[in-house]
Amino acid sequence: MKGLFLTIEGVDGAGKSSHMDLIAASIEAFGYEIVSTREPGGTPLAETLRNLLLSENMSLETELLLMFAARQEHLNQVIKPALVSGKAVICDRFTDSTFAYQGGGRQIEAKKIQSLVELVHPNLQPDLTLLFDLPLEIARERINAERQLDRFEQEQEEFFKRVRAAYLARAAAESERFIVIDSGQSKAQVAAFIAKTLTERLQAHLLVSPIK
Ligand code: TYD
Repeated sequence: MKGLFLTIEGVDGAGKSSHMDLIAASIEAFGYEIVSTREPGGTPLAETLRNLLLSENMSLETELLLMFAARQEHLNQVIKPALVSGKAVICDRFTDSTFAYQGGGRQIEAKKIQSLVELVHPNLQPDLTLLFDLPLEIARERINAERQLDRFEQEQEEFFKRVRAAYLARAAAESERFIVIDSGQSKAQVAAFIAKTLTERLQAHLLVSPIK
């Protein structure tokens, strides 16, 4: 697949949505056509599953399986076709979210999650992953100030501590794939860091220069 697969991750309230346009612009500078999408979701069926996941009570295993069911649809209908045709896919959350939330947060064993990765996308990994990281107190303040909270956002502090720790452990284990962003800084500082670091990492990944 000749496209570029970039994923955006972080605990709820880490501020990833404020920087989506900047991320897209940094990738467009390399000549890519962008497909922006999200998980769970990104197709009509996967968006229906998203609504259920964010609102209905269900067992941990059901939640895990529905995340991967939505992902399978999304991969088949959106992500893989875009990558095959050489586009850059920017996906707001992907399988690292499952390791962080269902693995860290819900404490499902990583090897069970890995077995679903092998079923659903054995040969596909993001090329780059931006992880928005910040102290939990700030993330909680940000989401509590927002709209009505969904089923994940209503979880307790301990849950989010485990989610954050799982993310940081994955980033440490795969430092060549992850860019960890300190999103406790001001919005302008975060934007400057993303613009610089993402361009450098894309250059290294693609071994080319952005189009001036
Ligand atoms: P998110 O995409 O952050 O949407 P919004 O910003 O509109 O709230 O929220 C989706 C929620 O789904 C988020 O709390 C994390 C959760 N999630 C998982 O638990 N596992 C997964 O594999 C994915 C993709 C998301």
